[in-house]
Amino acid sequence: MEKEERIITNEEKIEDINQENSLRPRKLDEYIGQKDIKENLDIFMKAAKKRNENIEHVLLYGPPGLGKTTLAHIIANEMDVNIKITSGPILEKTGDLAAILTNLEDGDVLFIDEIHRLNKSVEEMLYPAMEDYALDIIVGKGPSAKTIRINLPKFTIIGATTRISLLSAPMRDRFGNIFRLQFYTKDEMTEIIKRSSNILDVNIDNDGAEEIAKRSRKTPRIANRLLRRVRDYCCVLNEKGINKENAKEALNKLKIDNFGLDQVDRNILETIYYKFAGGPVGLNTLSAATSEEMSTIEDVYEPFLIQMGFLERTPRGRTITKLGTEHIKK
Ligand code: ADE
Repeated sequence: MEKEERIITNEEKIEDINQENSLRPRKLDEYIGQKDIKENLDIFMKAAKKRNENIEHVLLYGPPGLGKTTLAHIIANEMDVNIKITSGPILEKTGDLAAILTNLEDGDVLFIDEIHRLNKSVEEMLYPAMEDYALDIIVGKGPSAKTIRINLPKFTIIGATTRISLLSAPMRDRFGNIFRLQFYTKDEMTEIIKRSSNILDVNIDNDGAEEIAKRSRKTPRIANRLLRRVRDYCCVLNEKGINKENAKEALNKLKIDNFGLDQVDRNILETIYYKFAGGPVGLNTLSAATSEEMSTIEDVYEPFLIQMGFLERTPRGRTITKLGTEHIKK
């Protein structure tokens, strides 16, 4: 099995990752959904194995919680190589990246989360590293400065981003495989919840799993979190297992509605409708009016609201749709 090393500094994040980790599928055939990505990954991993080569760099993009990190682990596990995990904002200096790259072994996977947040100098150091497996280091200053080239092992970068539009073209071009993760169908979500319940040793009936699935924003990470909260609720009430009724009660208490919208989603929609006459309203103004960060609205809330047909992004700002209006008026 692959060895994992995390190059992160935030303790809280480690705790989150550990909880999520136990539910993560480790093999491609345990992974539910994203059929096209799975098929393509399967082919190119088999091809690489057959040729005894490492796999080309992979870029995974899509909204948070859909399984980018999980797929990176699966790739490393299936290829039987080590995975090192870091993220764009953590790699502040070129020296940080150089230290990681020079410690890799042949075939290793370096997972860079939030790769769109790499700073320019680190990104530029990554280009020759990805293309030629080499590091160009400048030694000295002024006219006597020299560039020394250090050869690196043949590694694979798996980059993940929620914002592919923020990735520079040269960066994007260096990935041999680019996959976009989709929101999951209701059936896939139900299946994921049943699988996770099984791992957590919780009894759940089909209606209970469907109820959680319906409110999980088509996102496995949210489904797993809600499942744990419903499990807590049932545990305290001495329920034998999760069913439609107790799942509904627990999720209503968490103020998660029938469509999976939480208080922040509703606040965004209500703000557009009541304060800005349905929009359009600029992201900046919406952020100030809702007290949510612009990037949180853009990366976390908007993709799902747009997917549900509740909100629209127009050149002049955000507007609430007829469906969205009907939903907040219910
Ligand atoms: N847990 C989280 N995401 C999953 C997925 N796509 N398949 C199975 N289990 C999961």
